[in-house]
Amino acid sequence: MYKIAVISGDGIGKEVMECCEYLLDKIDINFSFEYGEAGFECFNKNGTTLPEETLKIANKSDAVLFGASTSTPGEPSPIINLRKELNVYANIRPIKSYKGVKCLREDIDFVIVRENTEGLYSQVEYGDENRMFAERIITRKASERISKVAFNLCEKRGESQVTCVHKSNVLKKTDGVFKESFYNIAKHYPHIKTEDYYVDAMAMYLITQPQNFDVIVASNLFGDILSDESAGLVGGLGLAPSGNIGDHNGLFEPVHGSAPDIAGKNIANPCSMILSASMMLDYLGEGETANSIKTAVEKVIAECKIRTPDLGGDASTMDVTKAIVKELI
Ligand code: NAI
Ligand code: MG
Repeated sequence: MYKIAVISGDGIGKEVMECCEYLLDKIDINFSFEYGEAGFECFNKNGTTLPEETLKIANKSDAVLFGASTSTPGEPSPIINLRKELNVYANIRPIKSYKGVKCLREDIDFVIVRENTEGLYSQVEYGDENRMFAERIITRKASERISKVAFNLCEKRGESQVTCVHKSNVLKKTDGVFKESFYNIAKHYPHIKTEDYYVDAMAMYLITQPQNFDVIVASNLFGDILSDESAGLVGGLGLAPSGNIGDHNGLFEPVHGSAPDIAGKNIANPCSMILSASMMLDYLGEGETANSIKTAVEKVIAECKIRTPDLGGDASTMDVTKAIVKELI
């Protein structure tokens, strides 16, 4: 029995989470779900975007499922704080072209490993009306730790190359450390090829040669931006899952946000959330079930019959979920 903390959040976060739970209920693994609140609605109710109670539930779980939250003006982001509190320092974001989906190319298959604890995501900003500062801390410890995750993941995926993204020509000190840490760790993996690009060039290479990348490691903000760009290469945010991994916990969530433009219409694509749950099962050591969920999603998408509007169909969030479950059992 796995103890799973379920934090749906706002907007389509709730809709895709409901479907994800429906699917998890149908598979042959036992979960006990504990529910935590977070996000905009939670703030309006409790005066905080991330209550202590939610943190407690997350902390004592085997893994966390997070939907999405709408940002609350003037308040910290619950997901950023949750990642920090759980010390899930590596954000793993696989990008892959699926059959039957209009992608830039058919042979895209890489993963972005984004540093999750520092960089421009510290949420420490100060200044006055006319001059504002944002803190961008890059430490050797976190940079080496994230590079290690990238090289280990490269081995696990049976791939041959890790690409480091930075802007060390301008951010000489901070990104100097990030790049140097990458090459220090690379010495322990002599069988893996290495390369590094400035983030602006990388933004272009992702369009001109996405098939050439295996594992990409980046600091927090660069990883965030490049992962939405990458999702765009393979059919959008409806198919982009992610896992946040630390030494003691894992938090799994779609890359997308709460999508207020489509919330409440039951048309959000549940696949990012369901694929995130598949990543969770892999993390929990249930690799076989994780793979069958992935295969079921791929099959439903490839058949082009039951799909949500973002992929050109007219099916509902639950229709797609039920089609995936049908493939599974
Ligand atoms: P978004 O990811 O919510 O939406 C961007 C676009 O993609 C929208 O057109 C949306 O309809 C579409 N989209 C996203 N997920 C989809 C899905 N599953 N199926 C079909 N279409 C989908 O990003 P946006 O609009 O910039 O932000 C909306 C809110 O979400 C903001 O308050 C933002 O702060 C928050 N946000 C929260 C995140 C999180 O909780 N992890 C991540 C990103 C944004
Ligand atoms: Mg993002």
